[in-house]
Amino acid sequence: MKDHPFSFQVTLADEPLSAYDNRIQRRLSNMRGIFSDSAAFEALIQAEDRLMYEVYEIKRPEVAGELPNGLTVLYPGLVGEEFFMTKGHFHKVLETGEWYYGLRGEGVMVMETPEGDWAVEPLRPNGVVYVPPRWAHRTVNTRLDANLVFYWVYPGDAGHDYGTIETQGFRKLVVQRGGQPVVIDNPRWLNPEKRT
Ligand SMILES: [Fe+2]
Repeated sequence: MKDHPFSFQVTLADEPLSAYDNRIQRRLSNMRGIFSDSAAFEALIQAEDRLMYEVYEIKRPEVAGELPNGLTVLYPGLVGEEFFMTKGHFHKVLETGEWYYGLRGEGVMVMETPEGDWAVEPLRPNGVVYVPPRWAHRTVNTRLDANLVFYWVYPGDAGHDYGTIETQGFRKLVVQRGGQPVVIDNPRWLNPEKRT
């Protein structure tokens, strides 16, 4: 890993960064249990284990002071009425935030805190979303004909907690109804305070 100033280009081509350290591919099979409509999910995965999103990482040491960053390409699609989305996570160090910058397509960032606050903000080309400390976050592609592409940067010591969201889900879902994206309550959301 370089320990010297460096630069790279956002090309938005097939390789959307001119240089990166790691590419993560998330397919439908990596998303089991994440979507609300499990029957629709199983039908979709039977047809093809489609690529749902790709993450291009500019890695940095996982320590305070460093600023890992990168770019995500979230492909379009529906699982039942729910738009393709990322898994979503809290940061392990809850008191760390993150910046997102929209490059292509149209979508939203769904966020919530352990205390019960929630928010949905647009993510569009040249639009910026700030995820404050304590807020879990997930991106959703609300177009069915275009990739959602965005850049992000977060503190090196943040860490990722995917398990909490895998277990309880987000309070809000983004679904297509009447041809439009709509935010609804998650009927399967598991209140951690009521879990036995
Ligand atoms: Fe994050």
